[in-house]
Amino acid sequence: MKPCSAINLGALSPCTLVIFGASGDLTSRKLIPALHGLFLSDSLPHPFHIVGCARTALDAEAFRTLLHEAIRTSGPAPPAGWEEFARHISYIPVQYGDAKSFTRLAESLRQLDRDHQTQGNRICYLATPPSLYPVIAAQLGQAGLAAEGPGGKGWVRIVVEKPFGRDLTSALELDQILHQSFREHQIFRIDHYLAKETVQNILMLRFANAIFEPLWNRGHIDYVGIVAAEQLGVEHRAGYYEQTGILRDMFQNHMQQLLALTAMEPPSLFEAERVRDEKAKCARSLKPLVRETMAEHLVLGQYGPGSSQGRPVAGYRDEPGVAPDSRTPTFAMLRLFVDNWRWRDVPFYLVSGKRLPHKETKIVIQFKPVPHSMFRDMLAERIIANRLTLGIYPEEEITLTFQTKTPGSRVCLRPVTMDFKYNQDSAAPPLDAYAKVLLDVIQGDHMLFWRQDGVELAWSFLTPILEECESCGDRAPQLHTYPAGSWGPEAAQEWIRLILNN
Ligand code: BG6
Repeated sequence: MKPCSAINLGALSPCTLVIFGASGDLTSRKLIPALHGLFLSDSLPHPFHIVGCARTALDAEAFRTLLHEAIRTSGPAPPAGWEEFARHISYIPVQYGDAKSFTRLAESLRQLDRDHQTQGNRICYLATPPSLYPVIAAQLGQAGLAAEGPGGKGWVRIVVEKPFGRDLTSALELDQILHQSFREHQIFRIDHYLAKETVQNILMLRFANAIFEPLWNRGHIDYVGIVAAEQLGVEHRAGYYEQTGILRDMFQNHMQQLLALTAMEPPSLFEAERVRDEKAKCARSLKPLVRETMAEHLVLGQYGPGSSQGRPVAGYRDEPGVAPDSRTPTFAMLRLFVDNWRWRDVPFYLVSGKRLPHKETKIVIQFKPVPHSMFRDMLAERIIANRLTLGIYPEEEITLTFQTKTPGSRVCLRPVTMDFKYNQDSAAPPLDAYAKVLLDVIQGDHMLFWRQDGVELAWSFLTPILEECESCGDRAPQLHTYPAGSWGPEAAQEWIRLILNN
């Protein structure tokens, strides 16, 4: 028997999903394709309705055409069942700064609730630029759109995309504004990395097997590498990225989540609050980086001109919308320590960058070498230590490298790899990360979402680093230029080789 828990589709409450920022990229690239996929597999509640909201003056028909076009041009085939799916989509223009516009929106949503029998259950998804989150949250509150009905009827949830602020102070401010209108159980802070099947699998691997945990500590692990390498550059997102840079874009959220899942203690139960408690404890144990030694623990880079997939590509500063003297980092390597009993002195190397040779996301657990080599007289080289790799992208796999005897009369060792491909015996295709988070919001399950204390702890660790990086003059850590298509700055190569076994 394979133990598993299934979604009880019959138990999904009818609801309306209101997407703010509906004419933007996230809606057409991620949200609508995910919803369309869920619709095709009959995984959405009945009834279910989608309302797009944005400043652009469109009618519902024009909005549907826009979405259809975006999906048609990005997917391999024309979207199946589109006409039927599109019947569930409406559009209401809103002016985010205008209270009257939200009063009108509230009336229209109540009418749609009646027309579609969605029982007043509503999800407000903020897919806008982050600067609009506080504005929209406050407007929703004032228009009465955050209030829930009595007895769990007419629930209201708000979904916030990262970044949750740009430092600790602004994260606290955002939270305060959200909490003026919404209660914590209504707030869902998304990190799409947590919805990746392979990321969820980290906890299963660690805590549903007895053989790894005894080794999962400073006694046996030499170091841990967490890599999220990207081949793409900044693309058309310079406006956002110039304000963000790699540390806010990847480290405050995705990288810290991967770290927490790798380093946290086992919760007593696989339940949202207990899992998030353990993650918070892990974040609280991070050893702060101090100015005096920061350069020993942090390498920052920005891609210059180079090549990608055999084509010449522009450097970051030549990308459209980027300042010619921009100091925004597009690469970072951070060596940090989880200062607790389990991990004392074990370095965690976190590496992420844009315009690296290829896209690859993985976690490397490097075990210590054997304490004593009885084969030392026969072998010229040292014995390569065991390595467990959790591949997240492109290979969704777990591999374990160990030593065996080379067949034949001579005694020599060779490293071999045992691997498990995540989908090798799964009949069902993996659920898209956005489809998974949307289903969880519909079910009100917080497991895969950030809790506010986690956000604050992540910022508490990162804000002093950002302050150093963004300070002027001699204090700022050096920003190294690396050629697009390379594995980052020269200064990071020693660590990169260690992690990637290059
Ligand atoms: C997003 C970042 O959160 O994650 C992007 O804003 C990055 O800059 C992306 O490219 C990476 O996600 P994935 O799922 O493609 O690894």
